[in-house]
Amino acid sequence: MAEPGSVPVIGIIGGSGIYEIDGLKNAEWRKMTSSFGEPSDALLFGELDGQRLVFLPRHGRGHKLSPSDLNFRANIDAMKRAGVTEILSLSAVGSLREDLPPGHFVLVDQFIDRTFARQKSFFGPGMVAHVSVADPVCGRLGDHLAAAAGELSLPCRRGGTYMVMEGPQFSTRAESELYRSWGCDVIGMTNMPEAKLAREAEICYATVAMVTDYDCWHEGHDDVTVDQVVQTLLGNADKARALIKQVVPKLSGRRDICDRGCHRALDAAVITQAGA
Ligand code: ADE
Repeated sequence: MAEPGSVPVIGIIGGSGIYEIDGLKNAEWRKMTSSFGEPSDALLFGELDGQRLVFLPRHGRGHKLSPSDLNFRANIDAMKRAGVTEILSLSAVGSLREDLPPGHFVLVDQFIDRTFARQKSFFGPGMVAHVSVADPVCGRLGDHLAAAAGELSLPCRRGGTYMVMEGPQFSTRAESELYRSWGCDVIGMTNMPEAKLAREAEICYATVAMVTDYDCWHEGHDDVTVDQVVQTLLGNADKARALIKQVVPKLSGRRDICDRGCHRALDAAVITQAGA
């Protein structure tokens, strides 16, 4: 979160096309270093109506990185070093519910993290911390995204559980049915540990999950393919850019704290004793 008296810097993590926003001024790609390794790509810095934005193509330009190969720690660390105070994560997902068809957006508020081959914390030997992720999404960002989506009359649902799988293969039909039986709403491969690391970095985080397919459980629809995901995403890119343009002014302006406490996540989390 911004230091007292400073202004927000909005980070956007998403796929190609998201950062080609009309009206983005002083746009410049800058390579960032991180002590956690290489981020997915350089960051694109720019300004929209005077508000500073920083974009990161999650899979790198040209989609070169598989979900398990993303260096989530370097990505979030690079955003933090760039001064980012809030992250909007735009992510393709499959739908696990009839009433969330392709083309719908879901402002998820919960995750089930079933990933297992990723570095999930900035902390480790020598410094142990356990942050709360009971509410992994910043409700303040969620309020503003819901208002912006409403103003644009986008098909968008507030709230939902995003099941995060390791991939890179899509789910088996039995897995898809299992996640449905757990009450999950959408499924994807990228938002964990991204959301957990944003919390450790005390950056507000919210996801716009963009439904591209019905995974493989729906008898009336074909099983998910990459082609289907890409075609639907391309169709959604205009809506996603419009949502960003609509929400950015709501997040602008001087603000010292997040009223949901994201900027103080570490206050009660570090367990290692000072000087020990
Ligand atoms: N991303 C988009 N659609 C998906 C699906 N059905 N499963 C996992 N990740 C996805």
